[in-house]
Amino acid sequence: MSDTLAIEAAKAKFEAILVKQLERVRRIEEQGDFIDYAALPEIKIGVVGGDGIGPAITGQALRVLQFLLKEETASGKVKFIEITGLTIENRVAQNAPIPADVLTQIKNCDVILKGPTTTPRKGDPWPNIESANVAMRKELDLFANVRPVRVPEKGIDWTFFRENTEGAYALGSDGFNVTDDLAVDFTVATTEGTRRIARAAFDFARANGKKRVTAVTKANVVKTTDGKFLSICAEISKDYPEIAFDDWYIDIMTAKLVDEKRRTDFEVLVLPNLYGDILTDEAAEFQGGVGTAGSANLGKRYAMFEAIHGSAPRMVSEGRARYADPCSIIRAGAMLLAHIGFGGKAASLYKALDICTAGERRLKITGRSDGADSAAFADYIMEKL
Ligand code: IPM
Ligand code: MG
Repeated sequence: MSDTLAIEAAKAKFEAILVKQLERVRRIEEQGDFIDYAALPEIKIGVVGGDGIGPAITGQALRVLQFLLKEETASGKVKFIEITGLTIENRVAQNAPIPADVLTQIKNCDVILKGPTTTPRKGDPWPNIESANVAMRKELDLFANVRPVRVPEKGIDWTFFRENTEGAYALGSDGFNVTDDLAVDFTVATTEGTRRIARAAFDFARANGKKRVTAVTKANVVKTTDGKFLSICAEISKDYPEIAFDDWYIDIMTAKLVDEKRRTDFEVLVLPNLYGDILTDEAAEFQGGVGTAGSANLGKRYAMFEAIHGSAPRMVSEGRARYADPCSIIRAGAMLLAHIGFGGKAASLYKALDICTAGERRLKITGRSDGADSAAFADYIMEKL
């Protein structure tokens, strides 16, 4: 193909992308406020097992949640709905990041607890379909990825507000090879998309007595999109005069998280998608690794809670799925409880998790048969509730 024809073909693809993104902007503009769970006659909690070790650990988190919400389930205030089929095999068979029937069931719920899902990449035995995670965030418009990291003995208490639907992820599967020599990806920032994540971060800071919100970008180099993100955060900060606002570039911020003298100054951090992805893995490492962190994906209508770790297919192929650590997904379950209005139950679950993983530690999970299995560990947690 001549360069001219290649450019014409690329322009047509780019045009289609812009049309879709502007439609998305309209949808954001038309959105109402966050859903009020207390006002719902029944809160539907969807439990999606995912792949690999997902169903095993999510099943244990479900047992713990059912135990905590026994009365609410009996009275009809809460209903658990198990959703299967978000497996790599089924996604490949249907050639969809989320099969249509699974998506319908998910959208019928109000909140979701989701196990890990396999993200195909080039060279895998699977076709390179879009990540189920990324697709769910987009489909349910879960724009705020909230990831708390706490290490009290080191004075670390960070809450990351990662923008979850834009940046490099918005079109992560829509880049293309213009010619054999030229590959192009896109990154996106919208005014309303940035305003809503900035507001979420500042509202959280205000509601939780935090004194500082820090924006993290690379606006000195990625001038247009990161520049927009930064200037909107600065503009929103004016509505919160009691909260200090500052900004850092992602490279030096990555370094500062290791700087023991400076890192305890950070409280709430707001950042575009890809930087948030990377920085939250680094941050979770101080707390004991990504396996210890839970993550909330919040939108106005839906919310989804998950562990940040992967689906560990090797544990399954080696027959060790039942020894997988359920703590991270149980922690995600605690975040879910707090989000839908059961703060007291969430607090007792966090306490029980602390006793079982950091305090008494009568049972230990090793990932192998020399440690406790996930069902025994869930029993241990329930015993402490
Ligand atoms: C995360 C994960 C996902 C992401 C992957 C699985 C697509 O790393 O939740 O941080 O990049 O967002
Ligand atoms: Mg990640």
